[in-house]
Amino acid sequence: MIFDHIEKGPADPVFGLVREFKLDPRKDKHFLGIGVYQDEIGKKTHFTSVFAAQKIVEEQRREANYLPIKGSSEFTDTYGSLVFTENIWEEIKERTSSVQTLGGTGAIKVGFDFLNQFISNKVCYFVPTWPNHKQIINHIAMDVTTAPYLDSEKLVNFEKILDVLSHLPEKTTVLLQASCHNPTGADFSYSQLKELSELMLKKKLIPFFDLAYQGLGVSLSDDAYPIQIFVKDGHDMLVAATCSKNFGLYSQRVGALFILTQNDKQKENVSSNLEPLIRANYSNPPSFGADLVTCVLRNSQLRNKWEQELEQRRSRLANLRSQFVGELSQKSTANFDFLLRQKGMFSYLGLTETQVQELKDKFGIYLLGNSRMNFASLNKSNFEFILDAIVKVCK
Ligand SMILES: Cc1ncc(COP(=O)(O)O)c(C=O)c1O
Repeated sequence: MIFDHIEKGPADPVFGLVREFKLDPRKDKHFLGIGVYQDEIGKKTHFTSVFAAQKIVEEQRREANYLPIKGSSEFTDTYGSLVFTENIWEEIKERTSSVQTLGGTGAIKVGFDFLNQFISNKVCYFVPTWPNHKQIINHIAMDVTTAPYLDSEKLVNFEKILDVLSHLPEKTTVLLQASCHNPTGADFSYSQLKELSELMLKKKLIPFFDLAYQGLGVSLSDDAYPIQIFVKDGHDMLVAATCSKNFGLYSQRVGALFILTQNDKQKENVSSNLEPLIRANYSNPPSFGADLVTCVLRNSQLRNKWEQELEQRRSRLANLRSQFVGELSQKSTANFDFLLRQKGMFSYLGLTETQVQELKDKFGIYLLGNSRMNFASLNKSNFEFILDAIVKVCK
């Protein structure tokens, strides 16, 4: 029969683990692997500001119709000024091709489809990275070079990265995470970014920034600062940004792809070629989530509230991180101080696969195989248990 030869495909590293966790019959089990924010009682709560925007948007709901292929221009214009900051956005928006996408994943996919078809099939990314980067790039069958992201001290392996980049052919795209690196939490410093930017200009490499955690690291502006540096240095570049995490709009699929060109004519040409790629793929994006983001960002009351809520989440993450490291250093002989140099929702704990397996088998604690932990999954009721289990497997 037709489908007889099809074998079971590989499980997604994140969603596969979620499935395994759900099937685990133990009552006492803890999932620290998913990239979703949870509050101190383990609930995946909405931002109240975004929730309030729902009412307004519902009331203003427009006629039943499709959005344009590029999505809502109100959304991309408003969101652009958050991603790039208002002043920079005013300077660049006339030469930036902007499309609303299906979350960050959609933006990355459309961006690479475009690069692969019109610029070059060569791409470089750093390992480890968010596993879906690799899947998307492999799916398009691009020509890949990788560089190790961390050194043995779990710091960004800058020398090695510079070395790899300096040998790449012109027009290779370099995939960069703007901040709160997933899965390691380790980001480039300001001076490293300046050096990277200079080298990439000189070597004619194309920066493609992935901005997935704006506002969850240091501040809305600081987390997008790497992008600002590259814009000021005059790169032709791409930015894929998502509202999944910082607006809690995971299932609404809200994101955007920005392609910065030199002038309005180039922008129009790029846009006209993005449209058929999108049209042949999902035709056009949904409107509701994008309308929510536009509403929150344009309504000063909701925006203030949203910024406060984001700040609360950010400081909770930072506090949990320092509390976790403080207590671990008292209880364990292993050194976890490197976690304090990292930021955002995730860190790579640096555990072996055997230790990760032991946490799952003996304690019902689920981390990704690479030992990525989501700090937001820690709360008063599981903190000590998880900490003690990590100490035990590290003995
Ligand atoms: C680094 C990184 N980029 C992009 C994304 C994609 O975000 P979205 O869920 O909006 O597709 C994620 C999601 O976890 C991520 O961690």
